[in-house]
Amino acid sequence: MGEVDPAYIQAIEHRPKIISGLEAGGIPLIDLSPLLSSDSLEGYSKDHPQAILDLVEEIKGACKDWGFFQVINHGVSYDLLRRLQTAAKEFFDLPLEEKRRVTKDEENLMGYYDTEHTKNVRDWREVLDFVVVDPTVIPHSPEPDDQRLRQINNQWPEYPSDLREVCEEYCRVVEKLAFNLLELISLSLGLPAKRLNGFFKDQISYIRLNHYPPCPTPHLALGLGRHKDSGALTVLATDDIGGLEVKRKTDGEWIRVKTIPESYIINVGDVIQVWSNDRYESVEHRVVVNSEKERFSIPFFFDPSHYEMVKPLEELVDEEKEPARFKEYNWGKFFCKRKLSNFKKLPVENHQI
Ligand code: SIN
Ligand code: FE2
Repeated sequence: MGEVDPAYIQAIEHRPKIISGLEAGGIPLIDLSPLLSSDSLEGYSKDHPQAILDLVEEIKGACKDWGFFQVINHGVSYDLLRRLQTAAKEFFDLPLEEKRRVTKDEENLMGYYDTEHTKNVRDWREVLDFVVVDPTVIPHSPEPDDQRLRQINNQWPEYPSDLREVCEEYCRVVEKLAFNLLELISLSLGLPAKRLNGFFKDQISYIRLNHYPPCPTPHLALGLGRHKDSGALTVLATDDIGGLEVKRKTDGEWIRVKTIPESYIINVGDVIQVWSNDRYESVEHRVVVNSEKERFSIPFFFDPSHYEMVKPLEELVDEEKEPARFKEYNWGKFFCKRKLSNFKKLPVENHQI
């Protein structure tokens, strides 16, 4: 990535504050251990053990106040994450020509890229994306355009040779955590625990390996510009190099998230904002880079089935008091259009009414 190209330079109002010893913290820390000892969250019941009811309240507060939280005692093996981190580093250490053999393009929406722009400014990072389930094995919907699913195929690099296997293993465990969180979120909205699960039957969730190289001008550029996540939930693993900043809802300040070993950072995306009819908001965040150390992060984007129509849940809409605030939209169509917009400059629609 060499010299600082003007394409990376943020407008003054979006440049990060680089203060040594910056106080990190902010987002709520939630201990999921009550889940590990609970058999099931089936049904919404006041009979759940008190520890689960307390957990649901914590989730509710975190989703309302921050849209972000961190979890510990989540049940995902750290050893597996370590293996994935090692494989990711091995991939990004390859020569650029090697990495570009699996470049994403209009025909293949998954793969490697180092040229993405967020809000028209280039991000200081390189990325490798994979979908969790091969969409060509997903049952076809009667709805239009299943053709487009062919574009979401994975491109596995030749090296490291265990990357595919580790990724697939990791997907299975992180997916389980995502479902647990989804059930807690559902309960926190006053709904049955499994109310949202059906939307993920043939999900096209995906994993992203992010590499943020050291940047000679971290005060001018961002690893990833400010944005909101468009899916349902994001389950993010990072190494111990900080960099993620979350826009605090109360005052719009950028708050650096503390790295807590073996924790995951969770955030609510646009889909949950729509389902919850604005009770929970998808919050802006960005990634700050530094001049000394490279940073790796691995988000799992938990997204609904491609044929799902996303709209406010009827239980949370009341014609008079709480009218629907969003138009319905088809997830798969939106997803492909958004991915293609990087190549074609397509407008991405706004679902707010
Ligand atoms: C993201 O917002 O997708 C990535 C966040 C991070 O790398 O910390
Ligand atoms: Fe994000």
